[in-house]
Amino acid sequence: MGRQIKKAVFPVAGLGTRFLPATKAMPKEMLTVVDRPAIQIVVDEAREAGIEHFIFVTGRNKGVIEDHFDKQYELEETLRQRGKIKELTLLQADLPGAGQTSFTRQQEPLGLGHAVWCARDLVGGEPFALLLPDVLVHAERGCLAQMMDVYNAHGGNIIAVEEVPRERIHNYGIVGVGEELDSAFRITGMVEKPTADEAPSNLMILGRYILQPEIFDVLSSQDPGSGGEIQITDAMISLMESQDFFGCRFEGRSYDCGDKIGFLTANVAFALGREDIGPNFLSALQDILKDQTS
Ligand code: G1P
Repeated sequence: MGRQIKKAVFPVAGLGTRFLPATKAMPKEMLTVVDRPAIQIVVDEAREAGIEHFIFVTGRNKGVIEDHFDKQYELEETLRQRGKIKELTLLQADLPGAGQTSFTRQQEPLGLGHAVWCARDLVGGEPFALLLPDVLVHAERGCLAQMMDVYNAHGGNIIAVEEVPRERIHNYGIVGVGEELDSAFRITGMVEKPTADEAPSNLMILGRYILQPEIFDVLSSQDPGSGGEIQITDAMISLMESQDFFGCRFEGRSYDCGDKIGFLTANVAFALGREDIGPNFLSALQDILKDQTS
């Protein structure tokens, strides 16, 4: 059911002011979780879900992201000469194929909805995935791959959701929950960054979406909403009048790397999950915690 999703949009234009001075000369999306840039982890998630074209909406000072997804001949040659075949293989495996990436710029910070709209010509008239790189998901099977199952069963538009504690509700878009289906539920409404009392549930919009291309028509005349910015949530609310939206409670855990605690926690979770360093990292962590509590 529904047309196959081949393209994904990654809005990476944000300034990353919460991570200054780390982000003074480096995009926040290049901050590393263990040894992989955050954006690489999100691109990996998209590839696992079958995405074949990666569209980045960038801004000034984001050129390094484009370089990261390009072949580095000199580096590869040096690794080859030094016999570092493992590292070379790793680099080559991470690289998207020729013509599989596109970059466009959001020239002004007018909001997430506007950033997505900047990708309209690159996406064209087909359904697409939208992944916000601030959010990393640690899961056995990637979040977007799990959402594809829901899309293949129900079509329409799919939004990944996760329970959020009451005191953090005001940071997110929150969905209203309708009919429960096999692996998903029908979304009855959405509110961008409500107070805990206004929120229709405790399920937050995580930052992973599968959207139909009509969202671009809505976005082209979308007025600014919460925070004075053009919001993707507001455009989705309009699109709900004519299209189905389904919520996907995926298996796994998300880390909001938009703030320091989330970013540090992601590093801990991803490091502990790694076969090569997990066990040693755990004992190092236990030593620190012992010192803290003694
Ligand atoms: C955006 C979305 C919001 C969503 C959040 C997830 O907000 O507008 O609905 O819950 O991402 O991280 P932002 O974090 O860009 O303010």
